[in-house]
Amino acid sequence: MKCSIILAAAAVALANAAASPARIEARASASSTGSATLPTVTVKGNAFFAGNNRFYIRGVDYQPGGSSNVSDPIADTNGCQRDIVEFKKLGINTIRVYTVDNTANHDTCMNALAAAGIYLALDVNTPKYSINRGDPAPSYNAAYLQNIFATIDAFAHYTNTLLFFSGNEVINSDDTTNCAPYVKAVTRDMKQYIGSRGYRSIPVGYSAADVESNRYEMATYMNCGPSDQRSDFFAFNDYSWCDPSSFTQSGWDKKVVQYGNYSIPLFLSEYGCITNQRAFQEVSSLYGSQMTSVYSGGLVYEYSEEGNGFGLVTINGNTVTEHSDFTALETQLSQNVPSGDGGYRSSGAPSVCPNTSSTWEVTGFTGEMLPAIPSGAVQYMSKGAGTGPGLTGTGSQTAGGASSGTATPGSGAVTATSRAQLASASSAARSLVQGDMGVGPFVCGVVVLLSTLLGASLL
Ligand SMILES: *[C@@H]1O[C@H](CO)[C@@H](O)[C@H](O)[C@H]1NC(C)=O
Ligand SMILES: *[C@@H]1O[C@H](CO)[C@@H](O)[C@H](O)[C@H]1NC(C)=O
Ligand SMILES: *[C@@H]1O[C@H](CO)[C@@H](O)[C@H](O)[C@H]1NC(C)=O
Repeated sequence: MKCSIILAAAAVALANAAASPARIEARASASSTGSATLPTVTVKGNAFFAGNNRFYIRGVDYQPGGSSNVSDPIADTNGCQRDIVEFKKLGINTIRVYTVDNTANHDTCMNALAAAGIYLALDVNTPKYSINRGDPAPSYNAAYLQNIFATIDAFAHYTNTLLFFSGNEVINSDDTTNCAPYVKAVTRDMKQYIGSRGYRSIPVGYSAADVESNRYEMATYMNCGPSDQRSDFFAFNDYSWCDPSSFTQSGWDKKVVQYGNYSIPLFLSEYGCITNQRAFQEVSSLYGSQMTSVYSGGLVYEYSEEGNGFGLVTINGNTVTEHSDFTALETQLSQNVPSGDGGYRSSGAPSVCPNTSSTWEVTGFTGEMLPAIPSGAVQYMSKGAGTGPGLTGTGSQTAGGASSGTATPGSGAVTATSRAQLASASSAARSLVQGDMGVGPFVCGVVVLLSTLLGASLL
């Protein structure tokens, strides 16, 4: 009952606020809870924008514990506050997190990150809920989508959620390129879920492994076909600039030419070769006129030392020890701050889908054909995904409920925007008052969203 009263108040406030977006901003900033917001990031042509300003990703990959001890760093309030001190010192604006627990509360860390001017680039997959590169078809199923949709629900309302990665290095060789239609179908489904649930257009795209032979094909594949199938951005991992090196010696110059016509934002989801020393001279190319017309920055792998030599710091309890490459990165970032629009291209054509070849072994689904969304997952578009399994679920790869059939291009278009759309909040309130408890959890979700936007004064 408390929920319905809160909602009614929130819906009234929303109706007022909706008429004036500027007012939402003003009230959010004035919030007495100290709840921080950042300008949401959008895609224009081959670039990101925060408001009217070109937005470059200047960040680090962040997963203390590494892949051997999977835990959610955005649910670890002590850990994130310990590390935000270092993020501010580095001068970054983005962290990438590979794994989160979609049942955990992330308010404290997301708020602290926003207060520090830092956005989150988030992988929605977890080790047990992901596409199986060895056998992709059975793993593209309803239980899998339920988990990643629940992760979207958990993060969509934060203004500093920058983007979602639909997959990470699923393809890591030529003979795993047959996973590409599944990765692309997941991207399509995530975009449709975001649109259907009435969330803002949080960008969705893929993070490709540093595999030279099929990386360009994957980039064009993710950007070909009708808009429901195309990614909002593309990212790849690149360890080819190893000290001592240069823009030309690393081959980065050739990639700028190769991707010169690419029409969606492109960035490095991991970089920072550890051969010899890490002077991070690539930072001056990445954020300089050699690259900004094509690239939107990148993320250094990785913040904490996890036994593989890539850590910028070593964490020991509450103590953080900076390494020499931390200082090098801090210096380079401070000296290389791009200004203006960087020569981005405001529009461009979709890519042409790659043909089957010895390095692109996609045969089951060709051209614009993709697997159809698993039938059991269609309901989530209108009903929402509900509670996710978190990090303790049993896993989805062999859960059954796989896709059957081929989708027609355009099938992922957002046809109906759900009742979560803010405009319908007041009618949802009425149905709740009339005793339709079935929408209770969803309605409370709207309240959380509203209270984030408008501040706790409402409550
Ligand atoms: C795993 O990570 C958690 C949370 O960061 C930590 O409490 C725990 O000690 C770690 N376990 C191991 C074995 O490192
Ligand atoms: C980019 O587009 C221009 C004009 O259509 C074309 O001449 C050029 O070859 C293209 N570059 C690449 C790398 O595809
Ligand atoms: C695919 O093959 C067709 C027919 O040979 C060709 O016209 C087209 O340019 C090829 N596409 C790409 C992306 O190479």
